[in-house]
Amino acid sequence: MSRVLVAYATKMGATKGIADAIGDTIRAAGDEVTVLPANEVTDVGYYDAVVLGSALYAARWRPDAVQFLRRFRADLANRHVWLFHSGPLGETVGKPQKTPSAVRRMASTIGAAEPTTFAGRLEPETAQGFMARRMAKGSLAGDFRDWDQIRTWAAEIARSLHEEDIHAPHQD
Ligand SMILES: Cc1cc2nc3c(=O)[nH]c(=O)nc-3n(C[C@H](O)[C@H](O)[C@H](O)COP(=O)(O)O)c2cc1C
Repeated sequence: MSRVLVAYATKMGATKGIADAIGDTIRAAGDEVTVLPANEVTDVGYYDAVVLGSALYAARWRPDAVQFLRRFRADLANRHVWLFHSGPLGETVGKPQKTPSAVRRMASTIGAAEPTTFAGRLEPETAQGFMARRMAKGSLAGDFRDWDQIRTWAAEIARSLHEEDIHAPHQD
């Protein structure tokens, strides 16, 4: 059994839903999972593996997720880390999004693969801010999150954790 942290940065809640689904899938595979907003994480030393995800806004990650990579880069470099970002809506669904350059640099520093892209959600009920509310009335509106894709990705993480029986060097 591995200890897994799933950290996320969201503005309108859709990425939290993805993080919860990833957490549920890895937990169901028998691992100990904690799901937390990235800005509430104070230490990653306890965990064997970390999954970090951010919503995309204007082709950027949320500041909390970027700061997470900066704050914990030394510990993350010694752990298995998986990254995802979420955003594509409407016609852009299915197209991988470019990794923001700061994120690409940090992913390379800690030895993590580039983020996997998951589609997002933009709906009038949850939209926050003028732009989002306006966009939520047009062709981009909807919940495009692909739960099968998300669960398959998470199950693959659990499988590789078990295959390698991953354990980080714990201090405790
Ligand atoms: C103002 C605005 C800008 C956005 N920019 C992007 C973008 O650059 N790339 C992308 O893939 N999605 C973009 N999106 C879509 C959001 O990433 C998507 O709605 C996501 O699911 C929101 O996640 P959250 O609910 O966790 O905040 C944008 C949405 C809004 C409202």
